[in-house]
Amino acid sequence: MGIIVDAGERVFHLQGKDTSYCLQIVRDGYLAHLYWGRKIKTYSGSNPIRFVGRSFSPNPDPSDRTFSLDTLPQEYPAYGNTDFRAPAYQIQLENGATITDLRYQKYEIYRGKPQLSGLPATYVEDEREAETVEITLEDSLIGLRVILMYTVFEHDNVITRSVRLQNHGSQPIKILRALSASIDFRDDQFDLLTLYGAHINERNVVKRSIVPGIQGIESRRGASSHQQNPFMVLMRKNADEDHGEVYGFNLVYSGNFTAQVEVDQFHTTRALIGINPFDFSWYLEPGDFFQTPEAVLVYSHEGLGGMSRTYHRQYRTRLCRGTHRDLLRPILVNNWEATYMKFTAEKIIEIAKAGKEAGIELLVLDDGWFGKRDNDKSSLGDWEVNTHKLPRGLKDLAGRVRKLGMEFGLWFEPEMVSVDSKLYRQHPDWCLHVPDRNRSEGRNQLVLDLSRKEVCDFIIGAVTKILASAPITYVKWDMNRHMTEIGSAALPPERQRETAHRYMLGLYYVLEEITSRFPDVLFESCSGGGGRFDPGMLYYMPQVWTSDNTDAVSRLKIQYGTSIVYPAITMGAHVSAVPNHQMHRDTSFELRGHVAMSGNFGYELDLTKLTAKESVQIKEQVQLYKDIRVLVQFGDFYRLLSPFEGNLAAWMFVTEDQSEAVVFWYQVLAEPNAPLATLRLKGLNPDCGYQEIGTDKVYGGDELLYTGIAIPRVRGDFHSLLWRFKRV
Ligand code: DGJ
Repeated sequence: MGIIVDAGERVFHLQGKDTSYCLQIVRDGYLAHLYWGRKIKTYSGSNPIRFVGRSFSPNPDPSDRTFSLDTLPQEYPAYGNTDFRAPAYQIQLENGATITDLRYQKYEIYRGKPQLSGLPATYVEDEREAETVEITLEDSLIGLRVILMYTVFEHDNVITRSVRLQNHGSQPIKILRALSASIDFRDDQFDLLTLYGAHINERNVVKRSIVPGIQGIESRRGASSHQQNPFMVLMRKNADEDHGEVYGFNLVYSGNFTAQVEVDQFHTTRALIGINPFDFSWYLEPGDFFQTPEAVLVYSHEGLGGMSRTYHRQYRTRLCRGTHRDLLRPILVNNWEATYMKFTAEKIIEIAKAGKEAGIELLVLDDGWFGKRDNDKSSLGDWEVNTHKLPRGLKDLAGRVRKLGMEFGLWFEPEMVSVDSKLYRQHPDWCLHVPDRNRSEGRNQLVLDLSRKEVCDFIIGAVTKILASAPITYVKWDMNRHMTEIGSAALPPERQRETAHRYMLGLYYVLEEITSRFPDVLFESCSGGGGRFDPGMLYYMPQVWTSDNTDAVSRLKIQYGTSIVYPAITMGAHVSAVPNHQMHRDTSFELRGHVAMSGNFGYELDLTKLTAKESVQIKEQVQLYKDIRVLVQFGDFYRLLSPFEGNLAAWMFVTEDQSEAVVFWYQVLAEPNAPLATLRLKGLNPDCGYQEIGTDKVYGGDELLYTGIAIPRVRGDFHSLLWRFKRV
């Protein structure tokens, strides 16, 4: 396993646990894509690239009419010299020319995986985990060097790709497009699965057949967004949850992205992912380089489920970092839906007391603790405690909460500024804006210009001051509007289109700095819920507030869709009051608990206003979650029934050693004369016996897998059931 080079055939063969990825240098140095799929021991050319002349596919070498880039499956294609498909990159010279001609120069293979300058990426802890090849292509006429970086994780089915463009020439090069990965498959027998949504309705699963032409998704919002996740899967036509070949593409980036598939005239498929070229360009002075974000590619021949578990493992252990990566995450209570911005220190203490009584471990004080913030019209940027609400300050409040035996967490929205704030009055040019144009507001706020170092340093200073001032062990980092009028007062005209990407680099600098200054603080990212649920943010903050929608029924879809790529430990999921504040739906306490327990569990309601029955229920829920927490947060996840396909949903978690499992089943609406249903389990060892916890029943793993368990009849709407099994 690792990277095998066949120097004679000029083939690079990247081998993971069950996957192979092969490239070949063909003709005069073009880098071609040979194969990506199930693992093969050796690549001997049983299905070589075939060269046939095609009319209207021109030839770089007129003496060979069988060779055209238009028909060559490639790894990093250009536009303009015979390939008419969407390119992976494009540059422009001072004379206006956009043609490039990249040819193979050299390669270098080494153990391990390098970090990407200024960008989040997956990593290794030990060099033996992965091998990397850097393949250098060069356009010698203009001195453009493009280094394609591939890392294969040898004990899994993960290959990462990123690209470095270097200017070795004597004139500036303007990058118009620089994607992270491009792969040409030799046929088009795929469906395309993506995750779309909206605020309070994130990551719905949608699958479509691909057709000739371009199809894809993108974000132009300055954030990865609620609307589309930077992720796509190409699925073989016969692939489903448990079977068949699927190819996942996920971008480790939190800003504008594109993920695109083009089926060409010969029914081949080009898949592309990277920074959205829309409204983007980048000047590369001689001697400079540009680093693209990383694309994480996962192959599975065990359907979507196999792919998801690979992403989950990879992200849990080799994307998320820091003290909390491998620690059980605390059960929290957040005051947002309990009080919104109307609270006093005493009210917060009352909530904390009730939380402690129930066994909750962390109290999070949400928006409204700073400036003169009583509503969303002011104070973002003024990160000083609001002494009307908290007369004795944060240190005192956090200290009192900790004395009760709970941790204390705090909300921030550091990337933003309210128009009504001291900060904006002092620095009106510190926000993204375009001279002489209106500054559109979202939630009465503007976006700070994080492409500017002084703005980043202000944020680092302001957050540091607060975190150092009180015993705060958790931070919720929010971001509540998308970018408009994207421009920076600090950049020259020709660099204005760099602003959105420079913002991301600034944000990553800020996050790196703050998370390393406070390594023991648990950070949770949030963007109006799940508007930046992406691997870029996960690198800095190992959990995300999944959605502002806390309705249990809506959450079934949101959490199911999110699970296609992101692990349960990363998904903040809270029980809230009914009628639900977003959907105005009344669901049972049990259903709300069972849905939230399938993620990173907590509460978001006024614990001081519970009925006696609810107080008992909460204690029981908290205890149950503590009993299954290790399974949910560190186990393997299996989807059993999709809420996108009907009225039911089910999933389960199994420990890696298959010794314990917890199964959740949900029914949204009651049905007349409903069938007597069976649920077949997954992920258990067929050769072992399993006791159903709470009973003396023991079943064979094979029986649970193949025969399934009987779903008892339930009456009424909004039901859920839970089973726990232990190997005997
Ligand atoms: C949006 C978040 O998603 C909510 O949970 C809450 O923190 C509010 N912002 C506060 O303004």
